[in-house]
Amino acid sequence: MDGRELVRSVREFGSVRGLRAMRSAWRQRRTDARGLPPRGAERARVPGQVQGAEPLPGGGIIRFARSELRVRVASGGTVFWGWDGAGPLPSYALAGEAPEPDPRAVLEPDKDGGWRVVAERVTVRVSRHGAVEIRTPGGVMLRRDLPPRWWEPVHGAAGAAGRASAETATEGAQGQGRTGRWVQRSEVPADARFFGLGGRASGPRLRDGTYRLWNTDPRGGGFGPEEDPLYITMPVQLVVADAGTHLAFHDNSWDGQVTLREGEEGAGSGHDRAGASEVRMGGGPLRCWVVVGTPARVLHGWAALTGAPALPPSWALGPQHARWGFGSEREVRRVAAGYRERGLPLSALHLDIDHYDEHQVFTVDRERFPGLPGLAGELREQGVRLVSIVDPAVKADPGNRVYAAGRAAGAFVRDAAGEEVRGVVWPGDCVYPDFTDPAARQWWGGLYEERLAQGFSGVWHDMNEPVSFAPFGDRTLPRSARHTLEGRGGDHREAHNVYGLAMARAGYEGLRRLRPEERPFLFSRSGWAGMQRYGGTWSGDVATGWPGLRASLSLVMGLGLCGVPYSGPDVGGFDGSPPPELFLRWFQLGAYLPLFRTHAAIDAGRREPWEFGPEVLEHARVALAERERLRPYFVTLSQLARLTGAPYVRPVWWGAPEDRALRDCEDAFLLGDALLVAPVMERGTRHRAVRLPRGRWYDTATGEAHEGPGQVLLGAPLSRIPVLARAGSVLAVRGADGGTELEAWAPAAGRTGGGLVVRDRGDGWESAEIERYTTRLADGRVVVERVTDEGAVAVEGPVRVRGLAEVAGQP
Ligand code: NOJ
Repeated sequence: MDGRELVRSVREFGSVRGLRAMRSAWRQRRTDARGLPPRGAERARVPGQVQGAEPLPGGGIIRFARSELRVRVASGGTVFWGWDGAGPLPSYALAGEAPEPDPRAVLEPDKDGGWRVVAERVTVRVSRHGAVEIRTPGGVMLRRDLPPRWWEPVHGAAGAAGRASAETATEGAQGQGRTGRWVQRSEVPADARFFGLGGRASGPRLRDGTYRLWNTDPRGGGFGPEEDPLYITMPVQLVVADAGTHLAFHDNSWDGQVTLREGEEGAGSGHDRAGASEVRMGGGPLRCWVVVGTPARVLHGWAALTGAPALPPSWALGPQHARWGFGSEREVRRVAAGYRERGLPLSALHLDIDHYDEHQVFTVDRERFPGLPGLAGELREQGVRLVSIVDPAVKADPGNRVYAAGRAAGAFVRDAAGEEVRGVVWPGDCVYPDFTDPAARQWWGGLYEERLAQGFSGVWHDMNEPVSFAPFGDRTLPRSARHTLEGRGGDHREAHNVYGLAMARAGYEGLRRLRPEERPFLFSRSGWAGMQRYGGTWSGDVATGWPGLRASLSLVMGLGLCGVPYSGPDVGGFDGSPPPELFLRWFQLGAYLPLFRTHAAIDAGRREPWEFGPEVLEHARVALAERERLRPYFVTLSQLARLTGAPYVRPVWWGAPEDRALRDCEDAFLLGDALLVAPVMERGTRHRAVRLPRGRWYDTATGEAHEGPGQVLLGAPLSRIPVLARAGSVLAVRGADGGTELEAWAPAAGRTGGGLVVRDRGDGWESAEIERYTTRLADGRVVVERVTDEGAVAVEGPVRVRGLAEVAGQP
């Protein structure tokens, strides 16, 4: 620690918190020095030559001189492979049991002494040195994982602590196989593009570089596109190539890194350079799931594996506003009235840590918020819900009731010596619940009763990477901190990345127990593969500025491709004061994202839409009205995400991954099947180029028809961003009378179309029915019909046809 760091520490946190943070950082260093084994001499190992194989359901075990590999193809074509005894379980990512093996998959000898597993949708070839290839049934290569390399401690080289740890490291916990540091290189087709790895600010297409797998709250007031890693990292790669799309998931929560390099095509010279991925992990099992198919199939398979996305209550699909620093009930009322009096729709207000008593979770500052339940009831009558922030860290103060109860229950993370691990967060010295302990989760979940009693309808999990302020070193728990890990036991190196996920589980299950009749509303800053089972997420502290606006779209798209469909940015950016134009463009984008929420830091400028002058207010009003009009469509998208794993927000290549120009298009997105949204992400833009997928697209503002594939230049005046509707599509929208009506866009001549509608069935658990509609042209008229078991029938209820003029005008 040098003088500069000291100054930064004091500046960042104020002197008392800064000094505490510094003390805590030193403490962390000491704890790790005592609790972590020194890295002694290591020996590298590779699998060696193949020795033989043994069939098992779905595939088999292939033995090598120094390793063994299990390959199992599940019904549906999802592949699992694991080295050295690693099986699918235990896993934080999987929703339950591993999928059933495909009984028809067969293991057979391959050329050159290798083996292959042949299944209906996929062939897995294992070379005699242990390379694993995933091929389509037609034999086209999607991915080639080269033989891995492990580093294992040389026995007797480390000291006593090292020996104990080395033993657990090499034996591994049940189902995880032998563990140790490892690296695996893989090749993908030369034309492939990489996406995913959780929430990345520089995407959605992941350029060449190294991406760390370690959930991190970045330092400073707000992050831009260059910041990496962020709050949600996942070893999930979605790879899109001409040969097909696949998702590869290395199910391992340890600290790691992924280095990606896109390939290069030799322009027909036959000298293509394959794309490359290198995954390095600090420990843990080497096992991988690969899901192949179209993007829609892949996301469906991924949701089948890791769980259906939680369905947000429908109010969570409306406009929301948060503020760090509402400061008092009066101010909350004033803001709510501001929306009401201007006729602006508002679904929820989010209260940040300033409503806590001295920043302590599950408390209320009774002086400034004396009657929260009353306020919540009042707002509820106006159609506005209250959402509460929930931080995991608990003030280490015997007078704090949560601390006392958690301590008595043994719920907090301890160090190797059995002492509670202390960190520093907003309330000062804090302890951290061990959410990897089922008993701690159960206890924590019960605490949400207090939030419900205060009148809150949903929760916003924050600081759960988890954060401990530190002017130097890692801003989290010591790596040697002990965790229960569902009874297996281990340390923070393994538990860190799943901490937020396990906290989400605790909160979600608690809310379900406490209020079984309502679907929980929960979103969490940190998380991991599978977090969608419990809720969504948001961008975190994205920097105010045009690059931040771009980063916020990258996060939403990338997370959607990792199976987390519900998210959105801090509209306007977290820090500072956006110029009116930037705020407006962000707002216009936000209106088309699942979580549509304005929010900012305590010392930032305001984010209410009327704070930017009358012109911005009028345009924001239009964006809000359009969001409200599209609410039934958002309800449909949320239901379809739950049923199929398809994110609401999809890259434009979603339906046409073979279109290379679309694969590289990062500045627009599909909202469901029907709409294409082209946000403005640069200052002064009043027109923008929009790349269209194949087919006819109508500019929803002008009705003008455009033919894809190709690029068109569209008007993007300050009053709106370009939104196009796919010809032939049907979507549910809110009509002028507040009821739901169908909006049908005329199909192009000679073509048909259609769409799905799932209606809002309230905020409980009633299952919803999918309605399927088709469109066609007959005598120059658009015919919309509902598809039923009895065949196509006329639609009941209002239908608004659009785009017909262009069709009628055709020769
Ligand atoms: C960090 C979160 O990212 C931000 O949204 C929140 O306002 C602050 N913590 C204060 O709770």
